[in-house]
Amino acid sequence: MVGGRLEGILGAPWLFVHRRWYLPAVSRVRVAVLVSGHGSNLQALLDACAASDCEAEIALVLSNRGDAGALERARTARVPALVIDRDGQDAAGLLALLTRHGIQLVVLAGYLKKVPDAVVAAFRDRMLNIHPALLPAFGGPGMYGRRVHEAVLASGARLSGATVHLVDEQYDHGRIVAQWPVPVHPGDTAETLAARVLAVEHQLLPAAVRACCRQVLAGSSPSGLYVAGERFVPSVQPSQPLDHALIPE
Ligand code: GRF
Repeated sequence: MVGGRLEGILGAPWLFVHRRWYLPAVSRVRVAVLVSGHGSNLQALLDACAASDCEAEIALVLSNRGDAGALERARTARVPALVIDRDGQDAAGLLALLTRHGIQLVVLAGYLKKVPDAVVAAFRDRMLNIHPALLPAFGGPGMYGRRVHEAVLASGARLSGATVHLVDEQYDHGRIVAQWPVPVHPGDTAETLAARVLAVEHQLLPAAVRACCRQVLAGSSPSGLYVAGERFVPSVQPSQPLDHALIPE
């Protein structure tokens, strides 16, 4: 009504402007992404959220490192990108930023610091992390980056993968949302395995975030989505689309 009245008063040029302003926008969940490094998973999220039907909007990127490549990716995408304290332990400051930006869901995408308990509690069941192995194996304190893949290779495991899980007060411990298996090949190095897992992460994380956002938009608790550690479909190969995979609707 307001737009229609203004259109009558101001004429056709306003029509274009007001339609853009007043047409009901697709509802999106405001997501903050916490990063420490290169940000290829952030890029996968930004790319997924460029689609008009995406349920998530990357509304804020926070890094504990000022030199993180992820910050540049965020700025290129015109997303507010801020540097927080290097240890990431300023809970009040972090909460203030998340609140100020109206954040509804937090995603840790290559974020190397422990999130303070008060922030975890404020975003209980609304904070996701991606880990480059099949949790609960090869997770926990000190298990990040290259070390994860070295441990997988040293164990002789034939299968690794990627896991998206809820964040709780312990490293790599919260309930598992989604997993995707990746074969370990003879002769793999930490680098070749990491690259194979990372390619899967770039599919799995956006799919898991979107599934979670759908639950948020539906007004149901995302915690209702998850089955503790049991969502695992080893027969599905990583090259196949994720539509029929292990992310619950
Ligand atoms: C990914 O392998 C992620 O699982 C781990 O750190 C890596 C981050 O890579 N937590 P990027 O910064 O997203 O490129």
